[in-house]
Amino acid sequence: MNFYVRLALGLAAVLGAGIAFTFEYPPITVEQRGYRGLAIEQNHTDKGLATLAANNVVPAAADPQEPSGIKSSKAYENVKVLGDLDSNEFLRLMTSITEWVAPQEGCTYCHSEENLADDTKYTKIVARRMLQMTAHINATWQPHVAQTGVTCYTCHRGRGVPANVWSAEPPQAGPTFAGNRAGQNAPSSIAANASLPHNIFMSYLDKAVDIKVQGTQALPAGNRNTIMGAEHTYGLMMHFSNALGVNCTYCHNSRAFANWSQSSPQRVTAWHGIRMARDLNTAYMEPLASVFPDNRKGPMGDVKKVNCATCHQGAYKPLLGVSMLKDYPELGPGGPIKATP
Ligand code: HEC
Ligand code: HEC
Ligand code: HEC
Ligand code: HEC
Repeated sequence: MNFYVRLALGLAAVLGAGIAFTFEYPPITVEQRGYRGLAIEQNHTDKGLATLAANNVVPAAADPQEPSGIKSSKAYENVKVLGDLDSNEFLRLMTSITEWVAPQEGCTYCHSEENLADDTKYTKIVARRMLQMTAHINATWQPHVAQTGVTCYTCHRGRGVPANVWSAEPPQAGPTFAGNRAGQNAPSSIAANASLPHNIFMSYLDKAVDIKVQGTQALPAGNRNTIMGAEHTYGLMMHFSNALGVNCTYCHNSRAFANWSQSSPQRVTAWHGIRMARDLNTAYMEPLASVFPDNRKGPMGDVKKVNCATCHQGAYKPLLGVSMLKDYPELGPGGPIKATP
């Protein structure tokens, strides 16, 4: 073989391996979700759909309990949010919470072994607030979560710390010679590995920052955001797509991103989701700062917070739209957990 043939074969092998491991294998199913010709479509592979289904298996609900007729506030010593729940149903909920949040650790993840009424473990204090947060989501945020609602499992999936959380990142390294990114961005998994100014955009799910980009007039005066601001918006949008496992066209018509009348109904749901995430982070997560120990906080000392991936975990609807709430009405609207700020 002459040199050039070998070179060509070598390159083909390298490129071939690169392509084989980089792209999704066909067949790709294209699902049309808008008018023909507008490319408002979603692409799926069989393997991707199988993985999605495998990642979203819903645990069986605990068997219903015969009510004892005694309220938990009477039956137990130190019950602050579930007092109006029947004491037998209370124990059923405790069993399920353990399965959802701490299946390995068991009751002692939150409880001291000697006394279940004891409030010494911070995890119990957090869990009490999480009960209120869950009830608040289900009662107040139906424009987003509908009747489907959420339980602890939506976020926790059998682990104490949900797999997808975010916290503030330290500023870039100072002006050293090596490793100085000179203000350039590095890829971040939170933005689907795009090199966008990461993390700052996450604070859009915390503070009421304007996400809009496109101007309504030709002149710069009509621009609604800076170039940096636009990068943050795109970072946030990459997060949306990645968290839900969808393309931009799940919500937008890409010829007019800003235009609501050309957007899908899902964009409206997402709009409420942004407001919900801000509410959960400011009203529930951040006030727990004094309860969480330092090792549970981020590098800047703030509490780990909720983003779209915390619930969605790669699915267009968390757990593919299956409602676990219907088997646990105590976590839903009209349940015993009183409305909290
Ligand atoms: C993820 C945290 C968590 C886990 C795990 C957990 N609990 Fe609880 N438990 C709580 C919270 C929070 C309260 C207080 C509820 C309230 O104030 O309304 C509580 C209260 C109780 C009480 C009432 C005690 C009293 O007298 O005040 C009992 C009984 C109880 N849990 C039993 C259990 C059992 C049994 C298990 C294991 C199967 C368990 N819990 C697992 C968080 C947890
Ligand atoms: C919307 C998502 C969401 C829901 C719903 C949710 N949690 Fe959490 N939970 C979080 C986040 C975010 C954290 C913070 C993780 C961290 O920084 O440690 C957390 C932390 C906790 C912790 C502390 C874990 C540790 O080891 O530090 C406990 C305990 C807990 N949750 C219990 C519950 C219980 C019980 C429920 C249901 C009543 C629930 N959570 C519902 C998002 C959620
Ligand atoms: C799950 C739905 C959803 C997905 C997926 C999504 N977006 Fe968005 N997008 C929104 C919502 C909601 C807003 C409006 C946010 C607001 O104003 O609070 C928005 C706003 C925008 C804006 C600003 C429009 C303006 O008013 O100036 C741009 C640009 C944008 N998206 C681009 C994208 C791109 C690019 C992608 C894919 C990487 C994408 N979006 C994916 C829901 C989505
Ligand atoms: C507290 C958990 C939770 C968080 C956080 C969350 N969602 Fe959702 N989302 C849900 C649930 C539950 C549904 C399903 C509602 C239903 O059955 O119609 C849903 C549905 C949606 C839908 C509708 C999908 C469809 O096909 O109709 C969109 C779009 C969406 N979410 C976007 C977002 C975005 C964007 C974020 C972050 C800004 C977000 N969600 C954060 C729980 C959550």
